[in-house]
Amino acid sequence: PVGRPHDGIAAPHAILGDGRANSAGMDLADEDTLEALAATLRAGLSGVGDAPRSMMNPADTRDVVGTVRDAMPDAGQAAIATAEAAAPGWEAKPAATRAAMLERAADLMEARMPALLGPIVREAGKSLPNAIAEVREAVDFLRYYAAEARGLAGRPLGPVACIAPWNFPLAIFTGQVAAALAAGNAVLAKPAEEVPLIGGTAVAILHEAGVPREVLHLVVGDGTVGAALVADARVQGVMFTGSTAVARLINRELAKRLGRDGLPVPLVAETGGQNALVVDSSAQPEQVVADVLASAFDSAGQRCSALRLLCLQDDVADGIIAMLKGAMAELRVGRPDRLDTDVGPVISAEARQGLLAHVAAMRDAGHAVHALPLPPECDQGHFVAPTLIEIDRVASLTQEVFGPILHVLRFRRDGMDQLLRDIAATGYALTFGVHSRIDETIDRLVEAAPAGNVYVNRSIIGAVVGVQPFGGHGLSGTGPKAGGPLYLPRLVRAAPPPHGG
Ligand code: SER
Repeated sequence: PVGRPHDGIAAPHAILGDGRANSAGMDLADEDTLEALAATLRAGLSGVGDAPRSMMNPADTRDVVGTVRDAMPDAGQAAIATAEAAAPGWEAKPAATRAAMLERAADLMEARMPALLGPIVREAGKSLPNAIAEVREAVDFLRYYAAEARGLAGRPLGPVACIAPWNFPLAIFTGQVAAALAAGNAVLAKPAEEVPLIGGTAVAILHEAGVPREVLHLVVGDGTVGAALVADARVQGVMFTGSTAVARLINRELAKRLGRDGLPVPLVAETGGQNALVVDSSAQPEQVVADVLASAFDSAGQRCSALRLLCLQDDVADGIIAMLKGAMAELRVGRPDRLDTDVGPVISAEARQGLLAHVAAMRDAGHAVHALPLPPECDQGHFVAPTLIEIDRVASLTQEVFGPILHVLRFRRDGMDQLLRDIAATGYALTFGVHSRIDETIDRLVEAAPAGNVYVNRSIIGAVVGVQPFGGHGLSGTGPKAGGPLYLPRLVRAAPPPHGG
């Protein structure tokens, strides 16, 4: 309903400049709204470029969503040259002028919310509520960084490459681009190769809002195009959200050179997590089950914040696992353009194969696996059933499993400290949750939590821009947190100290 924060999770709203609160969303209980939406979901999409990579709907591979022409590495070169030439003009504009353009883009995106949902549902396979949450988050990022830019000190870096993920094809893409532009940088914006149409739509809105075409470039393509951007000596900063492995490659590449100022080229990377939720025997079981379902299976588990490891105190584990299995049986897995869908497809055939291979390997290793059969409509797309796998050691999780697969571990109350050490030993530190009704336990876990974002007695997904700055450390990213006050300062050169000291 109107006015709910992202993902329906009760959270306070932030004031994003001009006294505005977070974007409000749509009322899916209203029949007229739904009718209008149904039409936009069916509408064809115009392509990015004019040729011939077809984007397929991951929920139904017979549905061609649109076509794109990928940039050759030399097209990226031309874009960098134009961006570099345009950068001084953009830098010279008053921060308030740049901010006003981002705010105009936010207003346009918010006004066109219904039309933006079709691409998100059909190209990325996101559910309608998730797609609405994406538009709201993108709008919030635009307004938040615009407001932050007005008081920002320091000179821009120069052309910045934004390399975005497919799992938040509008929100994270727009967030990266908005932040880089707000800080006064020219931008090479590369959407993930799975979702170029959505990225193209966002760039078109920013251009319409006044950001010059020479300043903001859409660069469409696969990882080789991203690698060419990163390796180019004219690129003065990189913003990346995606896998830890790719972030390390980018880091290694950037380490080979220095920026124009003779300093290392900044990398802002947000990567994966091995996110855990610890439930003690005082926790409220129904609340645990509801929050676990949302954290593990919303967005088909394809959030970097998603729950991968549920840790249950042994005295309550059987009861909670039984309730969880019952609740999983009620999840509707299927086409995301249906309002009653809880879990949509995963992004691609390769992603599905990888997830199923993980489940098979865990089963072969003797772990108990619980998954329900998929309904027939799932045969047309890349679906994976919500799955629960029981493990007995944190170390059984050897890789981030990016899908609707939840691992469950039992622990003894006197083993809680060791459990925390084991979670920390994964090296990831993104999200973490606690369910308990004992203040002392909550304080202890929050204090020791190996994570950037810690949630108590609620789900561990759905950070709200300006309210819950989002990001981790260790293998989970470089910081600073997106949607928080430290983000833009990383995208400018540090001002020299006042007295040369
Ligand atoms: N910001 C998202 C969340 O909090 C993850 O990227 O769920």
